[in-house]
Amino acid sequence: MQVIKFAIITILLSFEVVSAITDKVVCYYGSWSVYRNSKGKFTIEDIDPNLCTHAIYTFVGINLDGSIRIMDEYNEVYNNGFKRFNGLKKLNPNLKTLVAIGGWNEGSAKFSKVAASASLRKVLVNNAVTLLSTYGFDGFDLDWEYPGQRDGSSLDKANFIELVKELRATFDKYGYLLTAAVAAAATSVDISYNVPALSKYLDFINVMTYDLHGSWEKFTGHNAPLYPSSQDVTAAAKELNVVACINAWIERGASPKKLILGIGIYGRSYTLADPNNAAIGAPAIGAGLPGPYTSEAGMLGYNEICEMQLSGQWAIAWSDEQQVPYTHLKNQWVGYDNPKSVTLKVNFAKKMLLGGAMIWSIETDDFRGVCGSKYPILSAINAAIRGGSSENSSSSSSTSTASSATTASPSATTAATQTTVKDGVAFECKGSGHFRDPLNCSRFYYCLKYGTLYIKYTFNCSKDLVYDPERNVCDYPSAVKC
Ligand SMILES: *[C@@H]1O[C@H](CO)[C@@H](O)[C@H](O)[C@H]1NC(C)=O
Ligand SMILES: *[C@@H]1O[C@H](CO)[C@@H](O)[C@H](O)[C@H]1NC(C)=O
Ligand SMILES: *[C@@H]1O[C@H](CO)[C@@H](O)[C@H](O)[C@H]1NC(C)=O
Repeated sequence: MQVIKFAIITILLSFEVVSAITDKVVCYYGSWSVYRNSKGKFTIEDIDPNLCTHAIYTFVGINLDGSIRIMDEYNEVYNNGFKRFNGLKKLNPNLKTLVAIGGWNEGSAKFSKVAASASLRKVLVNNAVTLLSTYGFDGFDLDWEYPGQRDGSSLDKANFIELVKELRATFDKYGYLLTAAVAAAATSVDISYNVPALSKYLDFINVMTYDLHGSWEKFTGHNAPLYPSSQDVTAAAKELNVVACINAWIERGASPKKLILGIGIYGRSYTLADPNNAAIGAPAIGAGLPGPYTSEAGMLGYNEICEMQLSGQWAIAWSDEQQVPYTHLKNQWVGYDNPKSVTLKVNFAKKMLLGGAMIWSIETDDFRGVCGSKYPILSAINAAIRGGSSENSSSSSSTSTASSATTASPSATTAATQTTVKDGVAFECKGSGHFRDPLNCSRFYYCLKYGTLYIKYTFNCSKDLVYDPERNVCDYPSAVKC
């Protein structure tokens, strides 16, 4: 009895520490989304500045002379995109804004050349300070994809650290933040990064734990699985999941609190070889069809996915192994993230004492609330990050008990299946929060409102314990009314 009480108290205490560390919600914003059609069109004013602690404007480019290139003068300067973005701080004074340089399309070669030269690095550092001070940004995010890869050089790894060190030294005079978006998988990390040095000089590291599978492969695979699949038998395949990537960064010397776990608010799609074989690992003949807003074969924004699912024709499946959803109709297949899977990812970030969650990117959430309430993915991430913090004990009581259960309950870290429980009566969610199974005191549910529906998470207490709804813990039967 004493032992279990002590255990419960320690778990709750360590949980308080957890929630204090994992506190960042870093939102990337793709500025070109202003040119999308109809309901996909996203302007800076569509950003909800209370759902992010940090907002990052993408992208500016890099020139061979070390200077920074504004990519869309009309949008960013003439239409005051940069100023309006920084104006979001009037709506949320705690928001920090950053601007990112690079991105996939900017490639690696120009970064490689600039980072290799002390004089070009100096130009870049000075240009960065001018850009931040001119428009009122709080920091600069390096999106070199990736040092030593894609026409980079073998010296990039060391030169990148030189650049980071020099930016850090100058930024410290002004109090600017310095961050980077980095490759996630171990093989790529080993080519590109001196991890301990990055961890030392950067304020935080945005780990791009997505794009782990896509239509460049011949079999369906999930964009961002939390766990490996039993089909992942080679060492290389076992790297391609969120848990393995985060562990790779930590094993190589990253301070966990500087790591920000990346979450994609989009899916990667395939065209199936056989519509009757729609499992993860099924043969695929290429990319899925482009969506109406993002117009890119092989990917779909979450807003596009949820809108197409409104027809009721798409099958929605959940991988118990990988803890992520996928959806398919005829020969189209998409692996994506939903409120449930992002909640599990944030809970993993908390368990690992990471700095927070990062999203790529804000404009593909259901920001208009076409499928239910607005910003379902970003809201679920915020609820999971903030849940359990003691700063708002009264108003957010449902979210705070939510997280204390998902982190503190004995069996909760190995959570949860959305599908109906086989034994006992299928419990139906009728409100948000925690509920004990009416027929089995060892089982409880967490119900999360999602639009007009509820998502149900099922938890079992550890052997011989029963759930106490009043304290939201599992304890010995003698201590609980059942
Ligand atoms: C805390 O509760 C107050 C009052 O309901 C609300 O205005 C505020 O936004 C809440 N803060 C957080 C961090 O949820
Ligand atoms: C809870 O227990 C039931 C039956 O004992 C089992 O089917 C289910 O998978 C368990 N759920 C979790 C999350 O462990
Ligand atoms: C109640 O749930 C627990 C945990 O899932 C399970 O081990 C047990 O067999 C269940 N009891 C009954 C009577 O169904």
